[in-house]
Amino acid sequence: MVARIKKTAARAILDSRGIPTVEVELETQNGCGRASVPSGASKSSFEALELRDGGKKFFGYGVSKAVASVNGIIGPKLRQTAFSGQTDFDEFLISLDGTKNKSKLGANAILACSMAFSRCLACESGTPLYASFSKVRRYCLPVPFFNVINGGAHAGNSIAFQEYLIAPVGAKTFAEAAQYASEIYHALRGLISRQFGRSATNVGDEGGFAPPLSDVATPLELVSRAIGEVGLQGKVSIALDVAATSFFDGKKYAIGGGKRLGPGEYFDFVEGLAKTHRIISVEDPFCETDFAAFSKFTRENKAIQVVGDDLLSTNPVRIARGVRTGACNCLLLKPNQIGTLAEAVRAANLAYGAGWGVMVSHRSGETEDTFIADLAVGLGCGQIKLGACARGERTAKINQLIRIEGELGSNGKFAGREFHRPARQLGFSL
Ligand code: PGA
Ligand code: ZN
Repeated sequence: MVARIKKTAARAILDSRGIPTVEVELETQNGCGRASVPSGASKSSFEALELRDGGKKFFGYGVSKAVASVNGIIGPKLRQTAFSGQTDFDEFLISLDGTKNKSKLGANAILACSMAFSRCLACESGTPLYASFSKVRRYCLPVPFFNVINGGAHAGNSIAFQEYLIAPVGAKTFAEAAQYASEIYHALRGLISRQFGRSATNVGDEGGFAPPLSDVATPLELVSRAIGEVGLQGKVSIALDVAATSFFDGKKYAIGGGKRLGPGEYFDFVEGLAKTHRIISVEDPFCETDFAAFSKFTRENKAIQVVGDDLLSTNPVRIARGVRTGACNCLLLKPNQIGTLAEAVRAANLAYGAGWGVMVSHRSGETEDTFIADLAVGLGCGQIKLGACARGERTAKINQLIRIEGELGSNGKFAGREFHRPARQLGFSL
């Protein structure tokens, strides 16, 4: 199929933190697509460049330059070219930008076009978005990892670790997983309210609670208690995104309460915590440059999924290094870390090729766009990180997955306890 772009439009909209972001609309002969891009707060140093204006407006966070990239440069070029598919389209944008990290046109401008085009293609072929990534007989619905306590760069408290997540691996369906999460979320709200007062039930950037704590272990106890209170022990597990770079100063890890641990001592501490609380998945337990610590941890903790986010940054060179060194066994897939869909899918395939898992992820600054819900189903990755089960920009993705599950009926299967084994390993072909 050849797609010709008839119309292009870009504009600045606001994300969930009230900060501008890019939205793009494309129109082809028989299709149209709109997409907007998210934005991280705890970005790694290896991500593609998010183009911001600087200056006074929006405290420098404006995206009028990125919008101008689409309206002034990308759009006119797109309208003169026919594309044979997503890879062709994305490669066109990559070479139009010409830089290594998409700093000329901006990864925010480029990704919004890439996603909007993907929707056009789905429209052209009359298939749901998830089906345009893979055509299989049976789709895999991902286990949602819900972030119920926020710390680090996402909250105004002093909890060093960034995310305490619940994973309803024992649910039978995605909708049941959402039900479990909702029950635990509200039990947790009650616990926090009784212990710290109602003001402590205010939430952080991803919708999780942000209680006034300064140690990293107590949130784990609170989450365990909430799971127990609603009788879901054994059905719902706990996971962490430590985002350790944010509290490492080059020498020591500041884990809160004035405690600063050297790398060796900190390694034992994280390992102990993961074992005590039976953590099933831990993301970025060490600084983003410490491949050696990641490798040792992965080697010594075979029962735990070790996820590379800042470490890998959805970047093929870093993923290859991670595979070579055995630094982790799961890629966190954030399309805006690399800047096009074709590259994001390639990153997922690199991870699959190494026998790793893949967890599709939102960012802390989100829009109402539900793209990643379809992406996770299309890639058959079995797991997705989407914040708490509250706040519109988070529930948009959850509700899209509920819809997809309903639409698929018996052609969809919830990944459950097999979340770390991508669909391909479970006999689905992509
Ligand atoms: P970010 O955080 O979107 O602020 O980078 C999410 C994460 O670290 O997974
Ligand atoms: Zn992370």
